[in-house]
Formats: sequence, structure tokens, C-alpha cells
Amino acid sequence: MSEKTEKRNVVLGITGSIAAYKAAELARLLVTRGFDVRCIMTECAQQFITSTTMQAVTGRAVATNFWEESEAAGIGHIQLADWAEALVVAPATADSIAKMAAGFADSPLLAVALATRAPIVVAPAMNVNMLTHPKTQENLEILRARGVHIVDPDEGALACGWNGAGRLAEPTEIFERVRNVLSAQDFAGRRIVITTGPTREALDPVRFISNRSSGKMGAALAREAYRRGAQVHLIHGPIHEQLPRAIKCQEVVSAEEMHRAVMATVASKSSMPDIVVMAAAVADYRPSEAAQEKIKKTEKSLNIKLVQNPDILHELGQLKRDERKPLLVGFAVETGEEIENLLGQTRAKLKHKNADMIVGNFAHDAFDLDTNRVWLVDRNGRQQEVATTDKWRVANKILDAILTLG
Ligand code: C5P
Repeated sequence: MSEKTEKRNVVLGITGSIAAYKAAELARLLVTRGFDVRCIMTECAQQFITSTTMQAVTGRAVATNFWEESEAAGIGHIQLADWAEALVVAPATADSIAKMAAGFADSPLLAVALATRAPIVVAPAMNVNMLTHPKTQENLEILRARGVHIVDPDEGALACGWNGAGRLAEPTEIFERVRNVLSAQDFAGRRIVITTGPTREALDPVRFISNRSSGKMGAALAREAYRRGAQVHLIHGPIHEQLPRAIKCQEVVSAEEMHRAVMATVASKSSMPDIVVMAAAVADYRPSEAAQEKIKKTEKSLNIKLVQNPDILHELGQLKRDERKPLLVGFAVETGEEIENLLGQTRAKLKHKNADMIVGNFAHDAFDLDTNRVWLVDRNGRQQEVATTDKWRVANKILDAILTLG
């Protein structure tokens, strides 16, 4: 699964746009994740960013013209085209898109685009009028029809002074699309709702009760499910995560809001998700009422009455009895170090909430970290430890386990 797919050969083609500097960030994201990246730069691209930069980031020689020694030795563009498991052109100018659509091969990059059998990802960047020009749109359509994956540009302030569509998509967006294109789509056709992050329970207009959840585990689950082809709806409390555009993100604040949002997803039989993963750290209690005005410092002590929030996972578990759908996954967090205690709590939650799987973890392994150590306990009595590793890897283990449950 994931381990293997992250060690793939990617050719990164860079063309002459002011956004070329973002290609360095994209290359860094790929290299850090274990991809082997080789760059090809057009002459124009080298006016914006040097081949030295790209060589330093990738640790690989950069192809820039047909007259290099490697070409003469017969290990040039055709070998690169065969070596590539994906070709990514980012940024792609209007000119390079037009040439790719027409089948030109007058630069090493265009020759690789023509010769490779690997999937191609194109991330356009240009002035808004050039982008919306019928000819550019026609060229993009030709590429799409040919199976090329287009990462649509963002809207916003453009370097040329115009405002509109044409900004190169964020490097993280292109990175996640490349991962998606390279992955087995074993979650294709599945709808998955994931909750993540903390909830905030208002005391007054400026204060709230919350917890230290960062939302990273649920965000990682959302990204990996998207990578593997799922249709993902992420319902999240206040978090600081950037997610691929294809993921439907819905922000909520309180547990009651999260409750309403999740229940709405299961309200209609026709649009019912196949899987719900409750990774959110939902506050168990909320102040019985939130003050309308800021609470003043008048008394020596202050009593605040708390009332229980709805237990979303439990409610979904009840619903499941007659529906047998969706598949339910929850989390159990414990403090301390006692593994037997954690496993006991995890098993108890599996039963009490009528879930299909509970992911047990310790707060000190999980909260606000990029790694986690978990135990997966499922309805078939399976119990699997996932030793401390990156949250994206843990997410894939959880998704693998979900697949075994149907
Ligand atoms: O009962 P406890 O909070 O320990 O259970 C944790 C699991 O239940 C998590 O999956 C969490 O997202 C979910 N939960 C919920 N609604 C709550 C509290 C927790 O769905 N009010």
C-alpha cells in the first residue's frame, strides 16, 4: 500500500512562469515523502529559477537542453520518459500547454511529454485573460480528453497585476494530486465522512472550553482516503490544516453543531455515507448556558454548570442497528501508560457505541503531534498495534483495516 507508492519516480517539468519558484517547494514535498524526482526545465524557466536550486532540492542532475552529454550518450529524454512513473508540469504556461496539445517536441520537456506512457499532471499558471482565452481552454480540453490530469489554477492577485484565475495551485494541492494519480483507487466509489479537531463550548462571547486536539489525525485520514479514491467529507472544529480541494470541508465550532452536521449526512438513505470516522475530540460537556455578555470578574469564585453534549458516535451506533450502514469507526483516548487499561477502554467503547472499529491511543502519543501509536480493535475481535509512525501512515493502516471490515 502506501509505503511502496511513496517511492515512485516523478519527472517534474518546469516552464517559464513567475510561479516557477513554487516548483522548488513542490519538489521538496515530493522528495521529503520519498519520491525520486528529476527535473526538466525549459530555457524560459531558467530565467525565473536556476537549475542549481532544483538540483540541490532533488539531489539529481537537471535536464535543460538536448545538447547535454547525457543526451549524446543516449540516456536523455527517452530514458527519462521511460523512467517516469508520473510527469508533472508545474507551472505550465499557455505556450507549453498549447505545444503539448499540438504534440510539439522541440524541448526535452515536450519530448518527454510525448514519449512517456506515464500519467501526466499539468498545473497551469498564467494571466487570467490568457487562461480564459478560447484557444487555451480548447488546448486544456484536448489534454483532459487525452487523460491528462489538470490541477486548476487558483483565483487571486496575479503577478501581472490582474486579479482572477491563473495563480498556480498551491504546491500541497499539486502534491496531493500526484499522490492520488499514482495510487491504487481501493476506496473508489466509497463515501466517507470524517470528523476531526476539537470543539469549542462557549462560556460567553469571548471565552470557551476546549481541548488540545490539533485535528491532524483526522486530516491525515481525509487526505489518505482522498488519495485512495474516496469521496471525502471532513467535518472539523477549529484546525490549521490545508486539505485538497476535492475534499468537502465543513467547519463547525461546538459539539452541538458537529452533531447536527454529522446527523445531516445520514439523514437521507440515498446520500448516506458508507463510512463514518469520528476522529474529533468532541467535548463531552458544555456550559448549561453561554452568557450573552462577557462574564465580569466580581466574585472570588465562580461556579459554572456543565451539561452533557450529545454523543454523536453512540447515536450513529443506534441508527446502525436497523440500517447496517454506515460502517462506524471511533477513537478512544486515554491518559497514562497502561496498555491493558487503554485496550480495556477501547473494547468497552466498541461495545457501548456499537461501532465496527475503535482506534485506541494515548494522549501523550497523539495530541498535537505528527506521529501516533495506536491499537486497532474491531468487531471481529481483531486487535492490531501500529507502532509509532507518521500520522499519514497510521491513517493508511486504519483505512486498510476498514477495508477488511467490508
Ligand atoms: O465517549 P468518548 O468521548 O470517550 O468516545 C470517544 C469517541 O466518541 C470518539 O470517536 C469521539 O469522536 C466520539 N464522541 C462523539 N460524541 C461525543 C463524544 C465523543 O461522537 N459527544
